[in-house]
Amino acid sequence: MSLAVQIARNGGPEEMKLVDVDVGAPGPGEVRIRHHAIGLNFIDVYQRTGLYTLPMPLNLGMEAAGVVEAVGDGVQHLKAGDRVAYASNPPGSYSEVRVMPAAYVCQLPDSIDFETGAAMMLKGLTAQYLLRQAKPVEGLHSGDFVLFHAAAGGVGLIACQWAKALGLRLIATAGSDEKCQLALANGAEVAINYRTENFAERVKDITAGKGVKVVYDSVGKDTWEGSLQCLRAFGLMVSFGNASGPVPPFAPAILAAKSLYVTRQGLFTHLRSREACQSMANDLFAVVGTGQVKVHIAQRFALSEVQAAHRALEARKTTGSSILLP
Ligand SMILES: NC(=O)c1ccc[n+]([C@@H]2O[C@H](COP(=O)([O-])OP(=O)(O)OC[C@H]3O[C@@H](n4cnc5c(N)ncnc54)[C@H](OP(=O)(O)O)[C@@H]3O)[C@@H](O)[C@H]2O)c1
Repeated sequence: MSLAVQIARNGGPEEMKLVDVDVGAPGPGEVRIRHHAIGLNFIDVYQRTGLYTLPMPLNLGMEAAGVVEAVGDGVQHLKAGDRVAYASNPPGSYSEVRVMPAAYVCQLPDSIDFETGAAMMLKGLTAQYLLRQAKPVEGLHSGDFVLFHAAAGGVGLIACQWAKALGLRLIATAGSDEKCQLALANGAEVAINYRTENFAERVKDITAGKGVKVVYDSVGKDTWEGSLQCLRAFGLMVSFGNASGPVPPFAPAILAAKSLYVTRQGLFTHLRSREACQSMANDLFAVVGTGQVKVHIAQRFALSEVQAAHRALEARKTTGSSILLP
């Protein structure tokens, strides 16, 4: 048995209940993991509210770190006793113990503790593909300007540091002056408080009228139009989230004046095979291992405080990563 956070229907944080669930033995290709720390992500909110629809009842959570207790037939890369971390489907990481597919579970290097592992897999693998794989048609080179929204958040603080390590000139946006300071302290070249300033006008000034090569936009509805204004000719709009609500339908003709490219990216397309996942994880472990990227765990909640954790995330009260402790 294990305690797990479950919803019986979509709704607010109050729908999340701590329930006892059967765990059992891992089947072929599966592992059983005892969690030491669990990552909180905005996708958990979308799954809870029903913006992303999944079958009910639903055990929530996409990210955690812990120790392998048992492996099923055919699992080659893990054994009982291994320290591991993952960002993986299906949801269910908000729990003490779980059985899940082994494919996207990675061994955690000894130098990385469980809390850091749980705080960095989903967000760090996302930063990896955003900065290293989702490239504009003209390529992305040291010295290029990029714009990153919600830069003081979980994905954001990792991206600020990683972009700096790659030599990119990252223009950050964030929802308070304190959050802007945090983005600057983590490698952003400029930070704009988009609740008090017109970020599109600021980006125009900062880039001497040219615009940026890439916009990384996880805010969605509220930033979409301004983001398109920030792009230079042939620039790439990387939409990867909807914290303020989904982007409304748009006419492709609005892209014509600057021949812009738009993509909607998702982590789980990039985690298309065990090899792809491990290669991305190795890249992440390297930048964390060398200290180029530090994972900021700014909020810790007991698993039983999951409702408060979701309320804080949705109210824009968190910075960096948040973890739940079973
Ligand atoms: N597609 C993918 O592969 C993928 C993977 C991981 C994450 N994501 C997306 O990336 C984003 C960041 O994820 P995260 O887990 O690290 O969360 P987070 O950035 O720590 O939290 C979300 C942030 O979005 C900003 N925001 C702007 N408008 C908001 C609104 N109306 N309501 C709530 N927040 C708002 C807030 O920062 P400010 O106060 O600074 O505005 C808030 O702190 C999310 O949109 C998530 O869905 C996508």
